[in-house]
Amino acid sequence: MKMKIAACVRTLAIALPGLFVLHHSAYADAGEGTVEEGKNLYQATCAMCHGTELNASGGIPDLRKTMLDDDAFQQVVREGRSGTIMPPMKHALSDEEIRKIRTYVRSAAKG
Ligand code: HEC
Repeated sequence: MKMKIAACVRTLAIALPGLFVLHHSAYADAGEGTVEEGKNLYQATCAMCHGTELNASGGIPDLRKTMLDDDAFQQVVREGRSGTIMPPMKHALSDEEIRKIRTYVRSAAKG
């Protein structure tokens, strides 16, 4: 009996950190993938106005400094801003794609 418990503890000691590492890296990959996809979408659809390095100027907002929350951001990108050249993007981008762009902008704002 003593032996069995020891073997069991040993198995757990080996398996648990392994599980943690697997879980952790899967999550990290998903996060980085989203940022990368968001960046590509941004470069294709927003960068010509908002700047290739998110460094817009000349009356176009620097998206890293926006005070909008996630919902308002989503709304502006979907519908555009009437009376300005900010175009509605809902026909070009899905909600999911806009969220990826938002994730990219957030990650760039932190760094
Ligand atoms: C044709 C140029 C142009 C393109 C392309 C463009 N924008 Fe804009 N965007 C603007 C301008 C100009 C404004 C400022 C509008 C105003 O004066 O309120 C703006 C405003 C915004 C705002 C509001 C920022 C704030 O803090 O009020 C967001 C968010 C935004 N754009 C996101 C995007 C995203 C994301 C894309 C790509 C999917 C994009 N824009 C593409 C020109 C553009």
